[in-house]
Amino acid sequence: MTKITAAITAVGGYVPQFILTNKMLEEMVETNDEWITTRTGIKERRILKKEEGEGSSYLAIQAAKQILQKKNLDPAEIDLVIVATATPDSMVASTAAFVASEIGAKNAFAYDLLAACSSFLFGMSTAARYIESGRYKKVLLIGADKMSSIIDYTDRTTCIIFGDGAGAVLFEPNEEGLGLKDEYLRADGSGRQFLGMEGGGSLMPATEQTVKDKKHFIFQDGKTVFKFAVSNMADVAERIMKRNNLTDTDVSWLVPHQANKRIIDATANRMGLDQSKVLMNIQRYGNTTSATLPLLLSDYEDKLKKGDNLVFAAFGGGFTWGSIYLKWAY
Ligand code: UT7
Repeated sequence: MTKITAAITAVGGYVPQFILTNKMLEEMVETNDEWITTRTGIKERRILKKEEGEGSSYLAIQAAKQILQKKNLDPAEIDLVIVATATPDSMVASTAAFVASEIGAKNAFAYDLLAACSSFLFGMSTAARYIESGRYKKVLLIGADKMSSIIDYTDRTTCIIFGDGAGAVLFEPNEEGLGLKDEYLRADGSGRQFLGMEGGGSLMPATEQTVKDKKHFIFQDGKTVFKFAVSNMADVAERIMKRNNLTDTDVSWLVPHQANKRIIDATANRMGLDQSKVLMNIQRYGNTTSATLPLLLSDYEDKLKKGDNLVFAAFGGGFTWGSIYLKWAY
């Protein structure tokens, strides 16, 4: 019997209309375009304003609808909708259930997956298992984050980095050996003291005091996170290459989480990859958390060819990190 692999057969991407530039941030906090550009590689990011739409679900729905349109897909055929997100619409009720209903995926079950900036990467692993089992034929995986909803725009250590966006992919069975080939995923809970949001969860429910103390905004110890990210992202990408006998020439594209251009460069260097093989859009969107990887696929879709070897790598809060090797299927 032919082995079923899980292939990406369509991508969609969406960023909101409002552009927040480095120049605008200069008016808001003590920073400057030169610092942001050299330290992070970011020039501008997109922000979802109320006038356009609300919640991460809005972004997720736009990205998902692109897939339905491109594939001329009847949403009733979708078996499962996973929304990878660190900023769900609200606690308890999953954002994915709402997204599934809004796009007409009336026969699907749906849930959210949370692993900070690794949410989409881990979601790829989850989606692939459903397809490989043979039980499900169409899994829609969406990465969506409205980071602006948890950013303190007086905190220059975080407000310059994050942006809003969403990307989506459709996973379907493949019998040509294309799709997800290997993965190496990791987590280390001691990292939560360095990156996260303290308030609003079961550990620290919202009170007047938590609001006063700005506990409902994301915090990060940038330097520490940078150190962990730079070594771990490079380690896992190198490991995936080695155990699949991939040389730098075999790798067609690196699809790296967009947190900092310096982290991306270090990962590419360790892999021995030429810059031309590195997908990058951090300069336009900043760090969109769960949306970075699918937004790259959406932006670079025209360049990807059937059989191309893609290496994904991500690092995020938790800590969570990992790498995935996938053969492009169309
Ligand atoms: O996606 C999830 C994972 N997240 C990451 O991977 C993020 C990892 N961290 C980073 O990308 C970087 O650490 C940052 C971009 C957040 C910060 O860059 P850095 O090179 O680590 O800067 P730093 O925090 O060491 O700060 C260097 C200096 C400090 O001044 P002094 O102490 O040297 O005088 C900061 O106060 O830059 C100052 N600084 C700023 N200056 C202008 C910090 N933020 C800013 C700012 N504008 N926005």
